[in-house]
Amino acid sequence: MTCSSGFRALALPAGLLALLAGTDPAQARDYRLGLITPPSHQWTLTAEEIAATLAERTEGRVNILVMAGGQLGNEARMLQQLQSGSLDFGMFTVGEFANRNPDYGIFLAPFIAPDAKAARELLSGEVAGQLLDGFTDFGLHGLAWGMAGLRQIALAEPAATVADLAGQKIRTVPLAPELDFWRLLGAAPTPMPLPELYSAFANGQVSGMQIDFEGTWNAGYYRHAGQVIRSDHMMFPMAAVASGRSWLGIDAADRAVIDEVFAEAVDAMVVRYGEIDATYLAEIEAAGVPVQQVDEAWFGAAGPQWYESWRDKAPMLSALEAEAGR
Ligand code: BEZ
Repeated sequence: MTCSSGFRALALPAGLLALLAGTDPAQARDYRLGLITPPSHQWTLTAEEIAATLAERTEGRVNILVMAGGQLGNEARMLQQLQSGSLDFGMFTVGEFANRNPDYGIFLAPFIAPDAKAARELLSGEVAGQLLDGFTDFGLHGLAWGMAGLRQIALAEPAATVADLAGQKIRTVPLAPELDFWRLLGAAPTPMPLPELYSAFANGQVSGMQIDFEGTWNAGYYRHAGQVIRSDHMMFPMAAVASGRSWLGIDAADRAVIDEVFAEAVDAMVVRYGEIDATYLAEIEAAGVPVQQVDEAWFGAAGPQWYESWRDKAPMLSALEAEAGR
């Protein structure tokens, strides 16, 4: 390159040039965030919000492209991509983690949090902090714990008592804590990812599902439901994580901004879920779907039996129960 003065310019590295110019040496970079939820889902909306805030707060150095709806594959594939550094960020269910380390399944303990407020306390508590730090064991950096709406049950045919669920094919997430609960209820839990669920329910391949009000409404499952059981029986945690490899390549000051922005936005989302659940429940009721409210006692011995077996499998469960005051 020749300067206007006629001298040949030295080919200096960009970082050094920036330093000499007195500007921030951190480079602008594009990153990718993968998640399985569709564009309309609150997780995806929050991811988009995070991307916009980060671009602004880092003056364009951290540009996150949100890849929603499982465009990059299922969570197993996205976890591999995070570990290899070909994906930078993810917002995940706990499926891949809980199936490797049962402690990551403890937020799914039945009735551990009666509402979004109680769930928020657990997701920002000491046990949650330890689990967040533990993401390093997966080659990840833990950013924040979030959640979706509390779990409910949508059924093709109404169930008057829990005995009516026996033998029914109930869709769950492929997650040991959910599967165990449904086995203890005598049902036939049928693991199925979200994209297959609508046609499986419409065609009668499954007779019901464990889901939240948001999905029941937005994905249209309510159209084929003869009853929705308002049980609030589990929370559904979400882990926001970064690839450990990508993380090391990010400037320390930008890493601090990323930690802060994820923590703030994900916490705001958890708070919002109280309202989101109420809004979608009202839509479902207004559409004429019968909603039956049940409590912990309705599920009989399944809850206590679940805790008995999971206290052995997941050593951190007892500490979470103590935090929850159970
Ligand atoms: C589900 O599979 O039920 C689910 C996944 C992500 C967010 C909410 C629900």
